[in-house]
Amino acid sequence: VREFGRAIRGEWTLEDGMAFLNHGSFGACPRVVLGAQHALRARMEAQPVRFLVDELPALMRASADHLAALVGARGGDLAWVDNATTGANAVVGSMRLGEGDEIVSSTHVYGAVHKTLLHYAVPHGARVVLADVPFPIDGPDAVVDACAAVIGPRTKLVVVDHVTSFSGLVWPIERVVALCRERGVPVLVDAAHAPGQVPMDLDRVGADYTVGNCHKWLFAPKGCAFLHVREDRQDAIHPTVISHGYGRGFLEEFDWVGTKDPSPWLALPAAIEFVESLGIDAMRAYQRDLCEQAVAMLRDRVGLDVPAPASMRAAMATLPHPWSREGTDAEGKVFHDTLWARDRVEVPCFAWGGRTWFRISAQVYGDLAEHERLADALLRGP
Ligand SMILES: Cc1ncc(COP(=O)(O)O)c(C=O)c1O
Repeated sequence: VREFGRAIRGEWTLEDGMAFLNHGSFGACPRVVLGAQHALRARMEAQPVRFLVDELPALMRASADHLAALVGARGGDLAWVDNATTGANAVVGSMRLGEGDEIVSSTHVYGAVHKTLLHYAVPHGARVVLADVPFPIDGPDAVVDACAAVIGPRTKLVVVDHVTSFSGLVWPIERVVALCRERGVPVLVDAAHAPGQVPMDLDRVGADYTVGNCHKWLFAPKGCAFLHVREDRQDAIHPTVISHGYGRGFLEEFDWVGTKDPSPWLALPAAIEFVESLGIDAMRAYQRDLCEQAVAMLRDRVGLDVPAPASMRAAMATLPHPWSREGTDAEGKVFHDTLWARDRVEVPCFAWGGRTWFRISAQVYGDLAEHERLADALLRGP
């Protein structure tokens, strides 16, 4: 059993002197994984043609097979993409939308994905309908009920989060996917935050499409993400960038989208090995415990209302920002910048639904003292 917190912080290159409470946005890649990525790049540059033409296809598929075991899927149903946004764009951009069609998502949808939906829907006369999922929220039923209320005969695609960004919640994704299947509507699960943070079992859940980032909670280098497409849907999904693989099937289309550095994908086995060295269950238990301790401490010390039950959280928690007045993007930026510049606390502060919030991430390199530092800073006032 590994010791977590300060004892292992040196395994990351994170700078000293800060409270780093935003693993969620971009992850943080450990030294050993960066080392593996560096070795892959060196191998590529030693003979670029041999590497990219002869060796890369098998390496990419081997890496996908590694990932498959972790997310409960077949390697052949997993395509590599640079990030969740790219994967979501491929799916939505492959839909044939027309006048009067609807894409259903929710009020918790990630901003970039919402814009993606608008971009591919509005010019074709289609609409984006957001299920109004409350926040504060009592429990997972509210998610299922809100989705059930807006899925209708015009719905061509449902896009729901597995772990939400603004609200930091784990959604009852199996129930939402089951609802979509009952209604005969395809569903894209935006699992940007899920790999590593929560267990995933893609084949059992049975969503049509799932995108997931490995550069957040699986510690892969940035630019490592997957698009899982159920076999019966693969022929109709194309990458946003068309290249040599066009017309040769799902994997060939996605596996080559022009010359790029594939090292983030190929370094994934090293990242999974790192997670295994921590113990995936021990890692998740530490994250969850630290998150709940931090939530309770912030609730008690700063006097904050906790907007969701613990059962809907994993390693992140969104709480109302005690300085909130206007609930604008500008306010969120000022709060963030103040906490960073004055207190060296890195924590996202953002406007959502008319007020300003902050979101903590609990990671194995962190400890409660770091969250205490956030509480101290918040108590100082803006
Ligand atoms: C729910 C959700 N979807 C998509 C994304 C986008 O991820 P990326 O920037 O890696 O594409 C994020 C990022 O935080 C997210 O939280």
